[in-house]
Amino acid sequence: MKNFKNKVAVITGAGSGMGRELAYQLADRGALIAINDWNESTLLDTADTVKKMGAKVLARHFDVSDRSAVEDFANEVVDHFGQVDIVINNAGYTLPAKSIEYTSYEDFEKLMGVNMWGVIYGSKAFLPHLKRRPEAVLMNTSSVFGLFGYPTQGPYCTAKFAVRGFTETLRLELEVEGTTHVKVCCIHPGGIKTGIVENIDFSKSTLTKEEIEETSKTFEELAPTTAAQAATQIITAIENQSPKLLIGKDAKWMDIITRLFPTKYHKFLLKGIAENKETLAKAFKKDPVEVLQD
Ligand SMILES: NC(=O)c1ccc[n+]([C@@H]2O[C@H](COP(=O)([O-])OP(=O)(O)OC[C@H]3O[C@@H](n4cnc5c(N)ncnc54)[C@H](O)[C@@H]3O)[C@@H](O)[C@H]2O)c1
Repeated sequence: MKNFKNKVAVITGAGSGMGRELAYQLADRGALIAINDWNESTLLDTADTVKKMGAKVLARHFDVSDRSAVEDFANEVVDHFGQVDIVINNAGYTLPAKSIEYTSYEDFEKLMGVNMWGVIYGSKAFLPHLKRRPEAVLMNTSSVFGLFGYPTQGPYCTAKFAVRGFTETLRLELEVEGTTHVKVCCIHPGGIKTGIVENIDFSKSTLTKEEIEETSKTFEELAPTTAAQAATQIITAIENQSPKLLIGKDAKWMDIITRLFPTKYHKFLLKGIAENKETLAKAFKKDPVEVLQD
């Protein structure tokens, strides 16, 4: 797809980060924008800016882990705009560092609901509409954490690996059935400077305000790519019909390392983790009360 003029683009999680930048850049290229976020106020901020840019926008706030809400949104977008050409299942969040052993089922299931089921619901709800278009694109956001395991990010890695398996399988199924006009791409961002760390629900964590600020700062330093740069690369991947997009030098590097050293790649990862002894001590504890009493 080379021309975005009057194409209808659906973006979930558009109240911040890459989703918001995608809304701006696709609006700038002439697309009609249908956006979602579970945060109503940040979603409306994005919608306001898109409107001021002169683009048409439909904004609906709901949780993408609610299947019927996603299905209603798909129908509403088609009723409103008459078509859907691009779907980017981008909404997602992460949890404070915690080992799998001590992650509660509640936190695990909630994250899978959003980061895995949200992508599956978004893909299945919009696919029949995409198939009706002469050319269409489905982009699902995984992560570098969908390429390798990472201690203290168990639920996130589990969901992002699932997104990769789901998206690659769907892509091949469309190819096998001869649906060549719907292109499917799995996105693997490396560290991107967005609100993903600030948006973590730290209320269940043992981190203090200072530690949260420090975590955000450290993440910023580790994230080499801006949200705007990432959005531009996603749009280029749509233009080039790429089946897999690695965003950032860090993602490209780790993709090579995990394929060259499938059982030894952790040696490149664990050094940095091991240095952060305080975070590790907290991540491998059962619950906040226990930690506070230590
Ligand atoms: N920032 C990174 O370094 C990075 C790296 C790899 C993958 N990702 C993935 O990229 C995607 C975008 O993240 P981002 O970095 O722009 O983060 P972000 O926090 O800036 O934006 C994500 C948006 O999704 C929304 N959201 C979260 N859960 C939702 C739900 N259940 N329903 C609707 N909206 C919801 C949030 O409110 C937020 O506005 C996510 O899937 C994330 O996992 C991010």
